[in-house]
Amino acid sequence: NGQVNPSTRIDCYPQPGSNQQNCQSRGCIWDSNFDSSNPTVPLCYLPTDTGYTGANGAPGTYILTKKASSFVNPYGADSDHVIVSSQSIGKTLNVRFVDQSFTNRYEPPIGIPKNPSTSSSNDVLQFNPNSVGTQDPFYFTVTRSNNGPNLWDTSIGGLVFSDKFIQIATHLPSKNVYGFGEAIHPSIRHDFSRYTTWAMFARDEAPDSASALDTKNLYGVHPFYICVESEDGKAHGVFILNSNAQEVTTGMAPHLVYRTIGGMLDLYFFPGPTPEEVVNQYLALIGTPMLPAYWSLGFQLCRWGYQSLQDIQAAVNRTQAAGIPLDVVFSDIDYMNHDEDFTTGSAFAGLSQYVDQLHTQGLHVTLIFDPAIEVDYDTFQRGLTQGARFIEWPASYPVPSTNSLYPLTANTKIMLGAVWPDRHTAFPDFLDETGATDQWWAGEFSTYHSKVKFDGIWIDMNEPSNFGTNQASTGHEGIAPLACPLTGSNNALDSPPFQTQAVYLFGNGNYLSTKTLCMLGKTGGGSYDFYDTKNLYGWSEARATKKALNTATGKRGVVISRSTFPSAGRYTGHWLGDNTARWEDLRTSVIGAMEFNFFGIPYVGSDICGFIGIPTMELCLRWQQMGAFHPFSRNHNIAGTPPQDPAVWPLVAAAAKKALLFRYHYLPYLYSLHYDATLYGHTVLRPLFFEFPSDSATLTLDKQFLWGSAFLITPVLSEGAESVDGYFPSGANNNEVWYSIYDYNYAQATPPGPNQLPAPVTSMIPVHVRGGYILPRQAPATTTTAAKTNPFELLVAIKGARGAGTAQGQLYWDDGEASPSAVDGTYSYYKWNFAYSETPMGAQLTLQRVNTVNGMPIPTLDIIELFGYKFSPSFQSFTLDGNPLTLNMSSSFYNGPL
Ligand code: NOJ
Repeated sequence: NGQVNPSTRIDCYPQPGSNQQNCQSRGCIWDSNFDSSNPTVPLCYLPTDTGYTGANGAPGTYILTKKASSFVNPYGADSDHVIVSSQSIGKTLNVRFVDQSFTNRYEPPIGIPKNPSTSSSNDVLQFNPNSVGTQDPFYFTVTRSNNGPNLWDTSIGGLVFSDKFIQIATHLPSKNVYGFGEAIHPSIRHDFSRYTTWAMFARDEAPDSASALDTKNLYGVHPFYICVESEDGKAHGVFILNSNAQEVTTGMAPHLVYRTIGGMLDLYFFPGPTPEEVVNQYLALIGTPMLPAYWSLGFQLCRWGYQSLQDIQAAVNRTQAAGIPLDVVFSDIDYMNHDEDFTTGSAFAGLSQYVDQLHTQGLHVTLIFDPAIEVDYDTFQRGLTQGARFIEWPASYPVPSTNSLYPLTANTKIMLGAVWPDRHTAFPDFLDETGATDQWWAGEFSTYHSKVKFDGIWIDMNEPSNFGTNQASTGHEGIAPLACPLTGSNNALDSPPFQTQAVYLFGNGNYLSTKTLCMLGKTGGGSYDFYDTKNLYGWSEARATKKALNTATGKRGVVISRSTFPSAGRYTGHWLGDNTARWEDLRTSVIGAMEFNFFGIPYVGSDICGFIGIPTMELCLRWQQMGAFHPFSRNHNIAGTPPQDPAVWPLVAAAAKKALLFRYHYLPYLYSLHYDATLYGHTVLRPLFFEFPSDSATLTLDKQFLWGSAFLITPVLSEGAESVDGYFPSGANNNEVWYSIYDYNYAQATPPGPNQLPAPVTSMIPVHVRGGYILPRQAPATTTTAAKTNPFELLVAIKGARGAGTAQGQLYWDDGEASPSAVDGTYSYYKWNFAYSETPMGAQLTLQRVNTVNGMPIPTLDIIELFGYKFSPSFQSFTLDGNPLTLNMSSSFYNGPL
């Protein structure tokens, strides 16, 4: 009777309202035994014979034919034939499913590099098609060359291919699955004890960490996951390159069901075998992240709702007076004249002089710019004159009468919306390939930069967000809201047959166009439907804006963007959006920041102290302490709430000062990690399982995080805590050493395993350095500009095994702001190695200048600190390039039990 075990089902009614009748009328199977202990099990599920049969095509390519089945696809006519092909890109395996009848099926126009990947293992991923040429449904497995579990196994069934509904499902080798975004994940490892569907459609949606499970789609879309497949810690990754509205269900088998309403199935499998290598391989495909300006690793102060320049100055002054390091001053939309980009409002008239003054103090300024451009001022006018494109109605569509309200738009097809400005706005078409839109955009930044010398750009509302779409009443500022064709002959894109959880989760009255533009809009200068490209809007704005920033300032600077898509990291960083001042949000921000490192956007952080709501002093203090270890470290607050910058409370000020001075001490290490990200696609922040995947205890740990391989941060994430629990892996050979380098037991090795560490509010949160690493650092200062000129220090933390202690480290160094940077080789690179020996005086520390750039100043190396050296250090000789040197060396050392 075709019954399928409740844990292995593919939902046949993936939208609200299934019942026996509507289920069976699709030819699906109805289970009338609702099990209240497993309420998420689909009662209406697909028969197992749904799919295609295989027939041989050219080698590596298979032409599949729709198989007769009781299932009748309610979301459109099935494609008769689907072509499946596979190819290798280095170690990456690509499997594509394309409808044979479409020669021009939409693909995301993101021009990713697709560089061949490498791996430390000899494993080769194999694509194994099955049932080719028989009447059984076609399925395939992906395996490692010789052994191990199936990484993918689509014999679970459920392959559906139609114009606006594409579905594929697979068994998974384990429940250790991480990633998919952007969403709030209550735990870093997905929960396979239930069925959970995650929507992926960029949306202006505040994360809700307080609800038990918030599966809503947030600002960006990242169809990528990592799976630790076996006990030995081997990991692989999968990326689905698709920019349509989509969703993924994690099911109990464990299995995945992926659905998209456009494009194609373009799957990429990464062999790892370490989680970190999975990310390296993913970023070889999509591109490695930009290198942020050195100053952008400093602390940043922001809020929405500064009433005047004096408010900004007061916040900056009290921060500086408290001795809290500060590098970047932000202004939100408040500085603009009536929320128009590239203008300065009268209450901020002195902004330009103030920015100059901050520059003389070594500080930098980042300003917000929204994509929505008011249609009745010179910026927009110049756009039209210069041939910039804006998202438009299709040529054949009757333009709403609101367009004629504004003479400039009257004879255009521009789709008008409403964001912050007082009048209608237009949305630049950053996918316009002529370059005119990007050029106009860059020109506006350059013109404004000649007035106000900002250093960084914050791009917001770029899902894109639009107020009041499809709502009947007058919207924001009395502006007539945008109305999309939800019914009638033009509704094919705005009311497609299947709308994904991005609509169903929000209930009646929601559409794909809710809070955004109409899906039938045209982008790419008319080449694409907005239906296909909406998820790329933030990505495309980030690309244009990074270019604009470099042109306007002549420097690297930094962009942060709210909406992102795979490969956005090439241009931008990200903040985790409109969180709330709650402990839950502090906790989930630890997970969010690690996930964006998986996604190739390592320059990430949360709004410190929480955006919405009012933090307690204790929450703000703990958030400042944790946020001091996120690459993007910014305190930000919503309008209409009291100030929450760290100097508001003396206790928070003291904690922030301590944590940030500590961060500033280790900035050369953090900066070098960003270099490794840019050059090799590494993560900057990573969870413990990235370093210890075969220690199964690490697979669920999501309250601690590492900077690179060497630096373990154990933040306090709960109210009233005086101590914090941490886990310190002992490593595969039982020889890991974790040296405490915060307030307690300075330089003592913390025993491996679970530990409870003291962490009263007056202390720093625990930070440990891992034996085996040499970390570069510089004495801190209250700006990165000043700290960057201080003498260097090395912390040599020796790995503990007696007689075999070693340590390694490296430093990348440049002027911190030249553009372009990393990739053109204009950086100095140093490597260090410590070799330990049983004989006193036998140890050797070798400092290697691998690459130095002529004329690039670098401070002297003045201090070397050793941890784990069992002899009293007395130095016999120093040489530099073979010549004897006299050094003034101070050192501290630890020679306790290892
Ligand atoms: C929404 C952003 O997420 C938030 O950070 C910002 O303060 C407001 N827009 C106002 O610009």
